[in-house]
Amino acid sequence: MRQLMFTLKGHTAIVTGGASGIGLATALMLADLEANIVIADLNGDAGQETVNKLAANGCSAIFVRTDVADAADVDALIAATLKKFGSVEILMHFAGIGMEQSALETTRENWDRIIGINLTGTFLMMQSAGRAMVEKGYGRIVAMSSMAGIRGGTGRTAYGASKGGVAAMMRVMSMEWAGHGVTVNALAPGAIETALVKKMHDAETRRAYLDGIPMDRYGTPEEVAAAAVYLAMPQSSYITGVTLPVDGGFDASGVIKRG
Ligand SMILES: NC(=O)c1ccc[n+]([C@@H]2O[C@H](COP(=O)([O-])OP(=O)(O)OC[C@H]3O[C@@H](n4cnc5c(N)ncnc54)[C@H](O)[C@@H]3O)[C@@H](O)[C@H]2O)c1
Repeated sequence: MRQLMFTLKGHTAIVTGGASGIGLATALMLADLEANIVIADLNGDAGQETVNKLAANGCSAIFVRTDVADAADVDALIAATLKKFGSVEILMHFAGIGMEQSALETTRENWDRIIGINLTGTFLMMQSAGRAMVEKGYGRIVAMSSMAGIRGGTGRTAYGASKGGVAAMMRVMSMEWAGHGVTVNALAPGAIETALVKKMHDAETRRAYLDGIPMDRYGTPEEVAAAAVYLAMPQSSYITGVTLPVDGGFDASGVIKRG
């Protein structure tokens, strides 16, 4: 008998932001492990496309169009999940938006938009999914923080605050649900090559990032997804309240000499 069997057969995972980037890569890996998948995203076309891809691989999957910043949408998502699959064991909450704007130039409108989607959206999703999990006595929640929520980078006033807030909230929920079989963790990716980053990182930004990354490259969505999937496994049962860097050594680094 093998000691370590990785399967999620019979588990249902909600993946917000599952239409693109890190969420999409994570949904595909969860499906490899035979989980049922609920893709929740604002982008209906790409979300449905993901579901078609999953279904073609034999995965039981549905798409629920969701704005994670809208409490009614979030509650409807959890209700649709429970109706279709009966329970929710895993929440991968990865929906989010990026922004780069200096502190002096950050408008109130942009601040509200970033905090509304990245921080309030995370609160709504984690509270609503957490409620179903606590009731059941089992759950794995993986939230999406960022290196920008841990280290200071120029232009990240609103985004960094939203992602730092996600890590703080994750820690509190991990404490409150520790006795209910629900683990709550967060990922803190560094620079990951996705559509969001392609839009945001010009040549100067890329150079600045690479100077601080010991591995001297951006990460892939699959490298983040693999960390997320581990935290979703029943075997990760003694890990909670952790913000896990997935960053090529960026967080650990000081002066880097190449060569
Ligand atoms: N790419 C990076 O370098 C990086 C680094 C650190 C953290 N992150 C975080 O990882 C997460 C995923 O990023 P990505 O790079 O894969 O981005 P992405 O743009 O490829 O995917 C984000 C997805 O979220 C969806 N979304 C946006 N707002 C939404 C809303 N209000 N409701 C529902 N869905 C919504 C989008 O439609 C999209 O499908 C984000 O939270 C981002 O902040 C990314």
